[in-house]
Amino acid sequence: MSSPKIVVDLYSDTITRPTAEMRRFMCDAEVGDEQQREDPTVNLLQDTVANLLGKEAALFLPSGTMCNQVAFAVHCRPGDEIILHELAHPYLYEAGGPSALIGAVLHPLPGARGRFTADQVRAALRPPVHYMNRSRVVSVEQTANIAGGACWPLAQLREVCEVADAAGLATHMDGARLLNAVVAMGIPARDMVASFDSVWLDLSKGLGAPVGAVLVGSRAFIEDAWRYKQRFGGSMRQAGMIAAAGLYALAHHVDRLADDHARARELAAGLAQIAGLSLDAGAVETNIVIFDVAGLGISAETFGERTLASHGVRFTVLGDTLARAVTHLDIRDDGIARALDAASAAARLR
Ligand SMILES: Cc1ncc(COP(=O)(O)O)c(C=O)c1O
Repeated sequence: MSSPKIVVDLYSDTITRPTAEMRRFMCDAEVGDEQQREDPTVNLLQDTVANLLGKEAALFLPSGTMCNQVAFAVHCRPGDEIILHELAHPYLYEAGGPSALIGAVLHPLPGARGRFTADQVRAALRPPVHYMNRSRVVSVEQTANIAGGACWPLAQLREVCEVADAAGLATHMDGARLLNAVVAMGIPARDMVASFDSVWLDLSKGLGAPVGAVLVGSRAFIEDAWRYKQRFGGSMRQAGMIAAAGLYALAHHVDRLADDHARARELAAGLAQIAGLSLDAGAVETNIVIFDVAGLGISAETFGERTLASHGVRFTVLGDTLARAVTHLDIRDDGIARALDAASAAARLR
């Protein structure tokens, strides 16, 4: 039996496809040998992101996962500890990379909405004695994906960085959806990340490029990062073709993230009206909606199978009864209406 056709894909903002205009722009890109730092389009993308984020230098990498790994590799030696949230991507979804590739120890912290406090960081610091792990990095995720796209308030980011700085730790921001936070909070990107030593943003999520992420930091940090990029197999050749998609996205797809956020709020408000679904619709800040189907007496998997079979609407299964919807470039208003019809129909089947 063939699987049902996906008509509205709320699985993730990673599924966006390059638009016709983006594809044309990519085709016209000037290229060179990226590994030799001779690709003019990659170099322009790096300068553009370094400038946007107010840092000295930038490095184009194939994925956000590689940005996290490369940054941790620069900051840590084997046995060093990375303090991060217990729902953070490098802890849950990077195939054990920080431990396997870098030998780092992960120190996960709990906290509502994917955030932890400066006091929690202070309490998590290891005393500097020879028989303990060396606390080395504090890593935050802006926005916090599995916490429903929640944004860290600027003051909390600064407080956490102050504690880390005072203890001599490096500070890292996983900015897979940094520009969603920038648009939602109305805070310039460079102000949002000013207290961090390393930051990256993903081009292949809400921004709609097919591949790529850009890591930024000081010139010295990026020089070190180049060596790990090469070691992990991330150096490329005529990568200007894909870097062009990132340049196009930064020029044309940032402000429109506000549309994704509005659609996520509309979806959340509609889902909250369906008996048996529970969520805090007012808590939706960006493009991610997480809801619980427990009240329907079915699993999130069954719920997803029903919405897919009846309306071609795909959600993510996050847990036994937890489901997620992510709005993005390829979701329009009619997609939200269809998703709500699908969810109502799935709920009626109980
Ligand atoms: C918060 C977060 N960090 C990192 C990543 C990894 O990014 P990539 O898929 O580009 O490797 C993701 C991907 O979904 C993410 O959501």
